[in-house]
Amino acid sequence: MPTTSELLFSLSTQSAEHSYAPYSNRREGVVVLLEDGSVVHGCRVENASFPLTISALLNAMSTLHSVARMDIAMIASSRAFTEAEKAYLCGMPNFEWIFPDSTTAHLGGTIPEPKESLFPLLPDWGTSTMKGAEQARDISDLAWCPESDFPVGSVIRTANGHHIPGVNVEHPDWSQGLCAERNALSAIIAYDYGMPTEIYVSCPKESGGTPCGACRQVILELAPEATVWMDRIDGPPQAMTAQELLPGGFSGDVLRKPKL
Ligand code: THU
Repeated sequence: MPTTSELLFSLSTQSAEHSYAPYSNRREGVVVLLEDGSVVHGCRVENASFPLTISALLNAMSTLHSVARMDIAMIASSRAFTEAEKAYLCGMPNFEWIFPDSTTAHLGGTIPEPKESLFPLLPDWGTSTMKGAEQARDISDLAWCPESDFPVGSVIRTANGHHIPGVNVEHPDWSQGLCAERNALSAIIAYDYGMPTEIYVSCPKESGGTPCGACRQVILELAPEATVWMDRIDGPPQAMTAQELLPGGFSGDVLRKPKL
């Protein structure tokens, strides 16, 4: 019988296979075991602008907020945690991590048996764009934004009819936070939910809010055909295509790519 850590390690290597890593082929996965035994997945999501790459750890940890589940029991990674990742975990307020080995972290509580995967999905409400903007506004309640007090919510619809939530997740080290749009996009890769067709974004505190430059770059690469619907709170959402949001965006076409 494998131990729980062995089982989680094996699940993390399966998550790694979902990675979007066309520039390095460095696949990595992370799974988070929650107190009821459900498992949340994250994988590496690269970008032509390398510094915008989302690690498997950041991907999984940010998804936890989108589904309002911070009852973490254990984390397992398909490769050794880097010092930066340990610093990321230890920098989270109110979490005291124990690292029993190089690929595992836990909080010292009871470790449940892993059961089924937790899927970050919202119910299908159809294709009403008004409803999509409202859903993004509602989900912003789950944002973790103690630094800015600026909640952002995003919901992405994919070609196969899934609706994936994302919220902004902040960290005392600001450079380690993740925007709502990129949170939802990276979950789509981790769970293989297919091509984004509509991206809804809501900044309830700013009716004119639009995606930041980094999100535009990532949207252009991962959701080039998507329409971005920006919640205008008191009126119908404003639509722009990924191309309109970032004319002349960096494509990275000439970057070195590994031979697969
Ligand atoms: N933020 C987003 O979530 N999406 C954007 O496109 C703009 C910025 C978040 C990041 C940070 O938590 C807060 O808003 C202030 O920058």
